[in-house]
Amino acid sequence: MATILSVSASPSATSRTARLLRHLDARLTAQGHEVIALDVRTLPAEALLGADFGHPAIVRAGALFEQADGVVIGTPVYKAAYSGLLKSLLDLLPQYALTGKTVLPLATGGTTAHVLAIDYALRPVLASMGPAHITPGWFTLDKDITVADDGTLTVAPGSAEALAQVADQFSAALGGRTTLLAATG
Ligand SMILES: Cc1cc2nc3c(=O)[nH]c(=O)nc-3n(C[C@H](O)[C@H](O)[C@H](O)COP(=O)(O)O)c2cc1C
Repeated sequence: MATILSVSASPSATSRTARLLRHLDARLTAQGHEVIALDVRTLPAEALLGADFGHPAIVRAGALFEQADGVVIGTPVYKAAYSGLLKSLLDLLPQYALTGKTVLPLATGGTTAHVLAIDYALRPVLASMGPAHITPGWFTLDKDITVADDGTLTVAPGSAEALAQVADQFSAALGGRTTLLAATG
């Protein structure tokens, strides 16, 4: 079993990205992992925008990264890249905050024109933070995510299967890594 930090990075109060992550969290939990959710929009804006590295909420967020074996990063595509909210948090973490960790990058967006934003924008930033492994990510179109009045989330066929597949690849990579760590002490 691994500890996973699941980070949603939309500033929206009704974020589809956050809903999608919570949906995947349930899948990862069912596979035996401990999943901790971090919604970046709940962190204090003054700390994020004022580079307050020592703010208790930022220190706590940093500790969650440190404790995690795996990190899911989910962001909406904004202006052809990841959200500024995500960058404002990553900039407050240590340079190598992802050292040794397995990372699953996910994005939601409004147009397939930016389907590669994970690879040309998000992945290089994550790679600079020292992860052991960035597993294949997935971009989901916003129109393919629907939330019913009772809160039930539905993902369009095709995208749903692809998401399940990248989540399972991430889970398998984590399983291999925790087994290796246990074996090598
Ligand atoms: C300020 C802003 C900029 C956006 N820029 C893009 C963009 O460049 N490319 C894209 O595909 N979608 C863009 N979108 C659409 C969002 O990425 C998309 O609706 C996403 O699913 C929103 O996620 P959320 O509900 O978690 O905030 C933008 C949305 C906003 C509000």
